[in-house]
Amino acid sequence: MRVIGLISGTSVDGIDVALTEIEGEGYDLRVDLLDGCTVPYPDDLRQRILAVCAGQPITLAALADLDEAIAHQFAQAAQRVIDQSGPVDLVASHGQTVFHRPIQGDQLAYSVQLGRGASMARRLGVPTVSNFRRADIEAGGEGAPLVPIVDLCLLSHPQQRRCVQNIGGIGNVTYLPTWDRSQTPQPPAILGWDTGPGNSLIDIAITTLSEGTLTYDADGAWAAQGTPCQDLIHDWLQNPYLHQPPPKSTGRELFGWDYFQRCYADAQRQGLSPTDIVATLTQFTAATIAQSYRSFLPALPDAILVGGGGCRNPMLMAYLQAEFPEIPVTPTDKAGVPAGDKEALAFAVLGYWRWQEFPGNLPAVTGAGTTTLLGECHRP
Ligand SMILES: Nc1ncnc2c1ncn2[C@@H]1O[C@H](COP(=O)(O)OP(=O)(O)O)[C@@H](O)[C@H]1O
Ligand SMILES: [Mg+2]
Repeated sequence: MRVIGLISGTSVDGIDVALTEIEGEGYDLRVDLLDGCTVPYPDDLRQRILAVCAGQPITLAALADLDEAIAHQFAQAAQRVIDQSGPVDLVASHGQTVFHRPIQGDQLAYSVQLGRGASMARRLGVPTVSNFRRADIEAGGEGAPLVPIVDLCLLSHPQQRRCVQNIGGIGNVTYLPTWDRSQTPQPPAILGWDTGPGNSLIDIAITTLSEGTLTYDADGAWAAQGTPCQDLIHDWLQNPYLHQPPPKSTGRELFGWDYFQRCYADAQRQGLSPTDIVATLTQFTAATIAQSYRSFLPALPDAILVGGGGCRNPMLMAYLQAEFPEIPVTPTDKAGVPAGDKEALAFAVLGYWRWQEFPGNLPAVTGAGTTTLLGECHRP
């Protein structure tokens, strides 16, 4: 089956598209990546999305327009790949997260992804699965992270314990014990959670410090010129989210604009230069990941595989490697899954599983009470 997976993460940089050919059932899958690309958002649409993510008020009419504009943009991204590479059987679209509230007390989690699947199915004339988080939330889960089960399927190793660390806007980890499928068809119990900030604080810092001329620290150039302030990193690591045991998920609501403002005020009090601030946030981001491994993993892994845009920041990768000198830290490409395509590919697999009626959530990861089918199916 030819399946297109689509996602735009909390960085709101653009829509990742993966064209895949998937065969098999359950965990016994063959997944070939035929094409992968990122289609950047037009700047005005990106600004509208970022405003909603930052908590600015929006009328319901404007929200409906935005939902439709995002669906249009996602459908265009899929159509571009279809025009290049031929027809597909299924589209699986995560959409654009604009709000994520974890479970609070006895309240269910709440997560909003825009770019409605019904509009996409209609525009593309292809069955479309969307709204992947809802069923898990209804089952009492966080609705996130959803990718660990796909990591389990595609990146487990018979002799190596692995951490698969995604560094998008937010960071999330999947811990994979060894799994020798020839001996044990049943998968092992895995762990996964949102580790905290990914690129979000670095991106906001660069946007602020460059007065809007840059949106991210390309190749870690600013961080490379600065010196991190260890006292601030130590203080920031006391953040309660970072100490909360999994299952847990987070978003830009916690590690976004307001959080950066507090870091910025701390940094100014310490007299840090702009490059020192970026270096400090970059090392802090790596330290949140390392601290969460040391706090919550049953054992440190034999390898750390990094996906998402963060693996293209050499300073972030170097700080993470420095935390674990004995453990190789490499992009997921090394294990056969291109780091930039991994999340879109994961949603192609989740969409395929929905179509096959194979439950896509892992209660141990999301905290849901039961396994459930993920995603709503829209036929054109
Ligand atoms: N060459 C690069 N140098 C440094 N950072 C990069 C580079 N390329 C991408 N990034 C970072 O990756 C982010 C996008 O990562 P992505 O995995 O798409 O996140 P999300 O899933 O949140 O959309 C960018 O916002 C930027 O911070
Ligand atoms: Mg992205």
